[in-house]
Parts: sequence; C-alpha cells; structure tokens
Amino acid sequence: MDRVVEIEKITFDNTDEVTLRPSKWDEYIGQDKIKKNLKVFIEASKKRGEELDHTLFFGPPGLGKTTLAHLISNEMEANLKVIAAPTIEKGGDLAAILTNLDEKDILFIDEIHRLSPAVEEILYPAMEDFRLDIIIGSGPAANTIKIDLPKFTLVGATTRAGMLSNPLRDRFGMHFRLEFYDEISLSKIINLASVKLNKKCPEDSALEIAKRSRGTPRIALRLLKRVRDFAEVEDKEMIDLKLTEYALNELGVNEVGFDELDIKLLNLLIEAKGRAMGLSTIAATLSEDEGTIEDVIEPYLIANGYIQKTAKGRVATPQAYEVMKIKKNKSNERLF
Ligand SMILES: Nc1ncnc2c1ncn2[C@@H]1O[C@H](COP(=O)(O)OP(=O)(O)OP(=O)(O)O)[C@@H](O)[C@H]1O
Ligand SMILES: [Mg+2]
Repeated sequence: MDRVVEIEKITFDNTDEVTLRPSKWDEYIGQDKIKKNLKVFIEASKKRGEELDHTLFFGPPGLGKTTLAHLISNEMEANLKVIAAPTIEKGGDLAAILTNLDEKDILFIDEIHRLSPAVEEILYPAMEDFRLDIIIGSGPAANTIKIDLPKFTLVGATTRAGMLSNPLRDRFGMHFRLEFYDEISLSKIINLASVKLNKKCPEDSALEIAKRSRGTPRIALRLLKRVRDFAEVEDKEMIDLKLTEYALNELGVNEVGFDELDIKLLNLLIEAKGRAMGLSTIAATLSEDEGTIEDVIEPYLIANGYIQKTAKGRVATPQAYEVMKIKKNKSNERLF
C-alpha cells in the first residue's frame, strides 16, 4: 500500500533516498551516543591497522541503520558489500560471498534476523575465527574442510532484535540501538536535504514537517519531497509554512504523523475501554504478526507515551485519548 507515512520501505523512492543519504559524519544528525562510540572504535582499529569489530544495529525502520553501514565503510576506507538476508538461500551462497571478500572488507547483511539456521551455522566460525567449515560427505565418512577467510567486518542490521538467535547476537562485538529523533534533529535533517534538493525550506516549515514525521528521518524526507512537489506545482520558490500545512493536510498526514497501523492500534486499545490487551489478541485483531507490532509499531507509541505496557497487556494512555480526540470518561472506562 502506498502511504506517505509508510513505515516500510517503498522501493520506488530508493534512488532519492540514496542521493539524500549522508556521506559524512557531519551530515548524520542525532544518535550522538552511537556516533561518539563508533568514532572512537573506528579510530582505534585504524590505529592498530586492524579490521573493525563486528557491529550490530537494531531499531525500527528508517532510523539510519543502512546509512551507518555506509558511513563506517567510508570512514574505514573499506569496501562495502550489501546483502539482504532473505537473498542468501543456502549455506553455499554465503560461503561464496565470504570467500570472495578481501581483507578488511565490510559485509553488510540487512534484515539479519531472516537468515536461515543453516546459513547462520556457517556464519558462526566465519565471524569468530574467520574460518569456513565445510562438511563433505555424511555419516561416519564425513569430513570437515577448514578454509581460512580474510579478516572482514560483519555489519548486521535488524528491525527485529528479539528474533535474532543468541549465538548470532553474541558474536557481534558492538551492539547499537537506534533511537527515535527529536523534532529539532529531524528539522536539521530536513534542512540539509532541502539544500540538496535545491528548494528552500525555512525553519518553521521544517519543524512542522518534523512534528509529523513519527521521529523517523525516512518519513521526514518523504514528506519533504511531497511538500516540495506542492511548491513546484504552485510555482513557489520556497516551501513556506502555509504551503507546508496545506500540503501535509492534503496528504492526510495526521498532526503527529501517525501511520495507519498506529491509528488502528490506538483505536483498538481505546475501544477496549481501559482494559489491558495482550499482544496476541492485538496481533490477531489487526492481522499483523506479533513481532512486527512489538518491534516496529509499538516502540514509537511507547516512547512518546501513547501506550503503556503493563503486566496484563497494553493500555492506551490519556495522551492517546487526547491525540485521537476521544474524551476519556466514565462511559468508555470499563469499571471492575
Ligand atoms: N541521522 C541521520 N541524519 C540524516 N539523515 C538520515 C539519518 N538517518 C537516516 N537518514 C536518512 O533517512 C533515510 C533512511 O535511513 P536508512 O535507510 O539508513 O534507515 P534504516 O534504519 O536502514 O531503515 P530500514 O530498517 O528500513 O532498512 C536515509 O535515506 C537517510 O538519508
Ligand atoms: Mg536499511
């Protein structure tokens, strides 16, 4: 489905996304803790002349995991190979990729939680000892051949950290959780992008777009591009606030940038009238899998205080009632 606040990737937008992707640390706004740590570790490994430790990035879609992988390869002056986990079907596919790497290359595996167990098995010795164990034959006659691999760095990214197996997670030397962005950071990202797009976007407009971007740079950039389209059609040189508000409303973007699924989830909890709702019930009602709800949809709503996780399940907070413009009163409060 094509929604402007779509949280999943929309492929036709990807070329734009690549051109707007920061190529220097200065352009990578926010995530200060991650940036600070990574800079230190990168400098240290460069000083030692060694490859960087295997690194795992996790967090909801569109927060900048792939971008960090690119930045690391720039900083390390190392080649970057990008692969999506679902395209590695057999152990042999991964073996071929690994044997084709050069010393210090960076292998970026996106959606790493989707590797099959057979492929993961191959990855363990490769990550730990830079070695490939290939079993030839079967039964008592089976033989293991060990092949040395170049010292590479694996960068993994996942939106679903909970789905990663423990042995795989433990083999990453560095784990970084990406946070949602505040409005100021998002408006800086919008500002930098508007310069690249050659369309002026004053501060108030950038802030308005930021407010409706669900804390997510990918959404902020997508909204900026759509608002720019409105400016172009109206022959406006600048994306002014009035036009921004008009365009965002036309696009049907909610005041706080909620996604269709956010709204469905909040409505469901509000309709439950204060009763806590379990993850499996929510998943069944919304026809989504539990992991997606827990790792992709909920984090933003929880981080911003719209829903609360209790021992009994999820409940909507007064803030959710307010933002959904529903008055919380006795008639919709279930009384026990
Ligand atoms: N900190 C940042 N500063 C500036 N731009 C950013 C930042 N983080 C992300 N972006 C922009 O947002 C877009 C989405 O980021 P990216 O593709 O890295 O997200 P992701 O975490 O890999 O998402 P997914 O989980 O869907 O793969 C990129 O095109 C990039 O330009
Ligand atoms: Mg990505």
